[in-house]
Amino acid sequence: MPGVIDDQVHFREPGLTQKEDLAHASRACAKGGVTSFLEMPNTIPNATTQKLVDDKLAIASKASLVNYGFYIGATPNNVDDLKHAVRTPGIKIFIGSSTGDLLVDSQDALETIFSQTSLPICAHCEDEATVKRNAERYAGSTDIATHSKIRDHEAAAIATARAIDLAERHQHRFHVLHVSTAAEVDLIRAAKAKHNYVTAEACPHHLFFSIEDYERLGSLVKMNPSIKTKADNEGIFAGLLDGTIEVIATDHAPHTIQEKNLPYPQCPSGLPAVENYLALMLDQVNQGRCSIEQVVAWMCEAPTRVWDISNKGKIEVGYDADLVLVDMDLERTIRNEDQQTKCGWSPWAGETLKGWPVKTWVMGKEVFRLDNGTEQFANTFGSAIEYQHETA
Ligand code: DOR
Repeated sequence: MPGVIDDQVHFREPGLTQKEDLAHASRACAKGGVTSFLEMPNTIPNATTQKLVDDKLAIASKASLVNYGFYIGATPNNVDDLKHAVRTPGIKIFIGSSTGDLLVDSQDALETIFSQTSLPICAHCEDEATVKRNAERYAGSTDIATHSKIRDHEAAAIATARAIDLAERHQHRFHVLHVSTAAEVDLIRAAKAKHNYVTAEACPHHLFFSIEDYERLGSLVKMNPSIKTKADNEGIFAGLLDGTIEVIATDHAPHTIQEKNLPYPQCPSGLPAVENYLALMLDQVNQGRCSIEQVVAWMCEAPTRVWDISNKGKIEVGYDADLVLVDMDLERTIRNEDQQTKCGWSPWAGETLKGWPVKTWVMGKEVFRLDNGTEQFANTFGSAIEYQHETA
């Protein structure tokens, strides 16, 4: 297969390297068949200027085993930085707050960003006012399931509708990150019937976990947007199958197990996924729920179109040799002690999946190989991803 391009990860460097760092996370990528990643700006400091994006590129050039790119984060008053940003796939807006302090909630600020910038925009869509109102209503609850009542269906749908409206009126490309409800799939389907400005993404936790899993997994599946119902899992999968959602990404968001073990509501939101998500989808192929061609379209090709990535996503003459060899018959059980991610745990620990990456190449260099059960990694570095919007 072409190497997977994960267009939504939180690799925590700089500033939060007790949770994750580029060396560990990029080994997790190589093991998982992910040859390129696009990383979110909620590091410390937040990547909200060109200088801070360039600082991350410089760190990655000496730490990342796979190819890398970094979003620039929006704030209520950095539109000049956003207008002139280069060497980035696009702009990330937290329309609802999540881990960190990035938030652009005011309508005026959002109108300014959508009207004055030209890079593709993506957003975390959960309505801040709805979340705050629900949080007051459920204040004092120590039940983890409350998380999905606070960050509820309405919060997701309101914010996604608001962002689609901005994209339509300003004729601006917009990517809905981590769709968590069937209602959002309907909103996106309706928008796509009218125009081409909107694209969308699903994550494994919103495909495979539901509120019923809180009892078994507790805070390990506390995420923003929250996990929802089994009907939402089905609606999101249907959205992938009918082309409403074109990308699968992880939103890999590690926290230490000590942090995750704090009681609700102190336990942070986020889970790691980068090293297991191709296997999760290959297992779906083996179960007959989708084809390998669809997995390649969702995880390799589509991200190149959404983010104007040059020379990746296909096996073709002239394209970069970012490749992954998969063994569709191999069964492996996910174990916390085998995880390359620095946080050292997986919400899928104990699950046996059929279909695994066994060899990964980045720009023609072998970076990972599974040899009789032993994982071997190269000691090389990937390259900065290039974007067609740089040369347009
Ligand atoms: O649950 C989440 N955690 N959702 C996000 O959007 C951010 C992420 C994080 O950075 O921890």
